[in-house]
Amino acid sequence: MANILVTGGAGYIGAHTCVALMNAGHNPVILDNFHNSSPQVLDRLERITGQRPVLVQADIRDRLALDCALEAHRIDAVIHFAALKAVGESAEIPVDYYSVNIGGLLTLIEAMTSANIRKLVFSSSANVYGEPASVPVREDFPLSAGNPYGRTKLMGEMILGDLAATQTGWHIARLRYFNPLGAHESGLIGEAPNGIPSNIGPYVAKVAARELPEVSVFGDDYDTPDGTGVRDFIHVMDLAEGHIAALDGIWAAPGLTTVNLGTGKGCSVLELIHAFEAQSGRRIPYRIAPRRPADIAQSYADPSLAEKLLGWKASRSLADMCRDTWRWQMNSSAAGEEDRALTG
Ligand code: NAD
Ligand code: WQD
Repeated sequence: MANILVTGGAGYIGAHTCVALMNAGHNPVILDNFHNSSPQVLDRLERITGQRPVLVQADIRDRLALDCALEAHRIDAVIHFAALKAVGESAEIPVDYYSVNIGGLLTLIEAMTSANIRKLVFSSSANVYGEPASVPVREDFPLSAGNPYGRTKLMGEMILGDLAATQTGWHIARLRYFNPLGAHESGLIGEAPNGIPSNIGPYVAKVAARELPEVSVFGDDYDTPDGTGVRDFIHVMDLAEGHIAALDGIWAAPGLTTVNLGTGKGCSVLELIHAFEAQSGRRIPYRIAPRRPADIAQSYADPSLAEKLLGWKASRSLADMCRDTWRWQMNSSAAGEEDRALTG
């Protein structure tokens, strides 16, 4: 059993990873400033697991708060999720993205160095591959980033690469996530984007729930089987469990481990809509719209390195992802009322 600082642990992937950590017998300590999440996640985690994670409400750039958290909670390793993550927004407020995503990472590394904690799992993204020349995407493919968000992930990876190459004793995993979807099967936690979602999964869920009128399918003339964009959707609990495998992996092996976390299966936007219709029992109206600027045609992972190095493989299906997203969607308006009642 280890004490794991989970920065951004109240967020979408972080909260699911806290469940997986507790299932594996670890103690998560959440550090979050609730920029894109809510303290009520703690109640939900307690309902799911019977254990309430410790909360440190702080900004990831707050060195003093980090120093205190690392020492007070006798942290053994850190999983670093805290970041700003919207590609479109990153082009509007790039300095905020560099400040949180790069400034936050550097502050964390400095605090960990001073506390002599050298085990770190970092959230990277398939975004670092830019437009891949072919699919499936392997870890040794060229890296590039076409937007400020992607650049922060690429720079984050480079900083960690330089750290591992020059300072002894570090155990670092850089995990490149493909497209997370789904929710915990309890329906108590899930993705809760502010305003109108920009990602396809939550958008489709809101159309099924009649909160939005129809899905705009951005382009049907890509060089893909049905002409719509193809992505590697991965169940968020599979992704969460990938972090436990990564922790176990770096515990055993010092240095740098870089792997894709995806299923290896491409799924088109239309396939996703139809799978969601099947699981929700709702018709999902859509119309074909122009391509979204800077979108790539297709991206899906070669996940074999993660299986080889970490013994991890995604096991949940597209149907599972849609079913669990739908359950969360159905619960979340009622849950919102409950949260509002709790906070007065
Ligand atoms: P999220 O926004 O749901 O979670 C991020 C959490 O970090 C939130 O709880 C937020 O309040 C917190 N946070 C933001 N700024 C902070 C700050 N300055 N100090 C402390 N906490 C702060 O996002 P997510 O989808 O759970 O993503 C988690 C990580 O995974 C991010 O690093 C993201 O870039 C990466 N990632 C996400 C996706 C995706 O599609 N969701 C894909 C690839 C990589
Ligand atoms: C998927 C497909 C769209 C919305 C982005 C980030 C990436 C990662 C995940 C963090 C595309 C189509 C979408 C809609 C649509 N996050 N679409 N109608 O673009 O793969 O990745 O989020 O690291 O960095 O770039 O995901 O869900 O936005 O789009 O037709 O309303 O759905 O064109 O083909 P994407 P997405």
